[in-house]
Parts: sequence; structure tokens; C-alpha cells
Amino acid sequence: MNRLFKPYLQAGGTYKGGKTLAELGTDRKIYKLSSNEHPVGPSPKAVAAVRKAADNFHFYPDRNGARLQTALADFYQHQIPAGQFFTGNSGSEILDFIIRGFLGEDLEAIICNPAFGIYNMFSGWQGATVKDVPLLAPDFRLDVKGILNAITDKTRVIFLTSPNNPTGTYIPRADLEALLDQVPKHLVVVLDEVYYRFADAPDYVTAMEYVKKGHQIIAVNSFSKTYGLAALRIGYGYSTPEIAAYLLKYNRPFLLNQLSIEAGIAALSDEDFVQETVAMVRSERTKIYAALDDLGVTYWQSQGNFILIKPVMDPSKFVPAMLEEGIMVRAVGNFGAPGCVRVTIGTPEANAAYLKALRKVLSIPA
Ligand SMILES: Cc1ncc(COP(=O)(O)O)c(C=O)c1O
Repeated sequence: MNRLFKPYLQAGGTYKGGKTLAELGTDRKIYKLSSNEHPVGPSPKAVAAVRKAADNFHFYPDRNGARLQTALADFYQHQIPAGQFFTGNSGSEILDFIIRGFLGEDLEAIICNPAFGIYNMFSGWQGATVKDVPLLAPDFRLDVKGILNAITDKTRVIFLTSPNNPTGTYIPRADLEALLDQVPKHLVVVLDEVYYRFADAPDYVTAMEYVKKGHQIIAVNSFSKTYGLAALRIGYGYSTPEIAAYLLKYNRPFLLNQLSIEAGIAALSDEDFVQETVAMVRSERTKIYAALDDLGVTYWQSQGNFILIKPVMDPSKFVPAMLEEGIMVRAVGNFGAPGCVRVTIGTPEANAAYLKALRKVLSIPA
């Protein structure tokens, strides 16, 4: 074995995300419902800010993300100060900061599959051991007892996601609090809430109130989903003063490019756009449930902008057959949901096309 390479990195996985339309390389009309992107397009205020910023490409960007941190503190109505926010190039990079900050060889993380694959992969890249405490069948509830039993002296991070990708399910307040009240002080709970604006369950909670109470919890968030800025790669986290200050060590000079900074600040003020987005996704979500009920397709109710289904056909056949009909969807066996497919909620037009294709591919009579 060549000693140059870290064996755990060399053996680690590489991310295989959904293809872009350009990568797909076709002129056919395709409805891309495979990556939980915004159904319509980017925040118009963010686009205007990016256009304006283009005239200043010859200058270095802001040295640090301070203006975006301040805008985030304003957005959250100063429930916590700007210094408790930290920004990065996407929610994925925020996760990377957390994993680099708290995990390493001989340390452990806990994930709850089906889960976003990045937690496992990035933790592996740092040499950490990842333990899976699966969500409980049939409705993907958090196994609080199982998580508590899996904690050892070496555990440093517990990854939770609410609403969860790919199941669309959420962690009710009671379950999160039961866990937070019992976890030891040598670990942090990560609450990935990148889909939080789509949630409407009365007992849905974000990390904010627990950060304010001083729990060792870190929120992970993103501008990719509700603001429609996935291509710009902007994300943020927030936590206690101590944890935020620790993770801000990774705030290297010029971490964010100026387009991201300006787009992020502008997007935070585009609340009308977010309200419209959320209203569309929630009303389409209900319509799709009714259609899936009608078609007899198994699915899980979702708090996100996507719905997990279990078609009777194997995903290896189902996904290409749907693409043939112009609908791009995502098999999520690699997220720990074998036999299942995740379908993003699109515009009314895209959703109608999806349901039509579903009926055809599964040969369900009209
Ligand atoms: C649960 C979850 N967390 C984080 C992310 C990362 O989002 P981004 O890297 O686009 O900010 C995603 C993206 O799909 C996600 O589903």
C-alpha cells in the first residue's frame, strides 16, 4: 500500500448525483423532477443582484461572509446575533465544515437511513465510522431509543434531516426534544433543514429554538431549494456561539464569490417569491397525493418539495421508462430506500405530465 494516500479516502465513495439536462444531451422536452430543484426558476431579486455584480468581476469579493451573516440575522429577526451564522458554498459545504470540524479517524457519526448520502460519504472521507440507526417502518419515524443506544464515547455527530430527503417525512417536536434532552455533551446534533419552508405540520420545528436554549445543535440550510439558486452554491448554518465560532475557523478568505454574496442577500429579501413557491408546492403536493391514491401507487406524505413513491416496477426499469416519456426522476436505493423513487414536485404542467407518464409506464388503465 502506498503510504501517500489516506486509505479511508482512497477507499471512499464519490457522489453520483442526478444528471443535469445538459449532461443528458437531448433536445427533447424533459421535465426534470430528479433533484428537488425549484419548480419555476431563481429568485428574480437574486438574478438582478447577480447581473449588477457582474460589472465588478475585476475586484476580489468581500473578505468574509459578514454582510450575508448580517442579512441572515436580519432575516431571522435577530433571534440570534450575526456571529452565530456561518456561510459556505452550498449546504453540502456546510456539512463538510461540520464533518471536518468534529469527525476524524477513530471517531463516530450516526445517520438514520434512508438519508441524504453526503453524510455517510463525507464522514468516510475523514476516516470516521458511520453507524446507521434506520428510521422505523412503516412511516420512517426517528428511532430515538436506537440512537441513544448507538452513542459511544467516540460519537461526535448525529445527523438528522427534517423534512428528510428522500422520504419527505419530518421529525416531530416531541421526538427531537426527547433526543436533545438525553444526548451527552461530547457530541453535536446536526439538523439539516434545507427543505424547512415547505413544511406545514403543526409540530414541525427547526433548530432555532434549541440553539437559543443552548443545546449543542447545528442547523444546516441552503439557498438551493426555495430561492431557486442551486447553481450558485450558497448555504449557511447556525448554532450556539461556541460552535459557530469554532466552525467559522473554516471561513477562509474570499470563501464565497461575490455573486453568491449578492444573490444570497437579495434572495433573503424576496419573501413574496418564497411565499408563492411554497404555496404552489403545497397545493400541488395535495393534488399529487389524490392522483397517486387514485392510481394505487404507494407513497409517503411529504413535508418537502418531493414525494417518495414505491412503484411496483423495479427502479432500474422504472426510471429509464419514465425518461422515455420525458420525465426525469431519481431512484434512491443508494439513499437507503431500495425499490423507491423520489419525484420532485414541479409546476402544475410538469406534474400533470408526470402523472400521465406514470399511468402509461405502470400500464394503469384510465
Ligand atoms: C437533505 C439535504 N441536505 C443538504 C442538501 C445540499 O444542498 P446544496 O448543497 O444544494 O445547498 C441537499 C440537496 O439536495 C439535501 O437534500
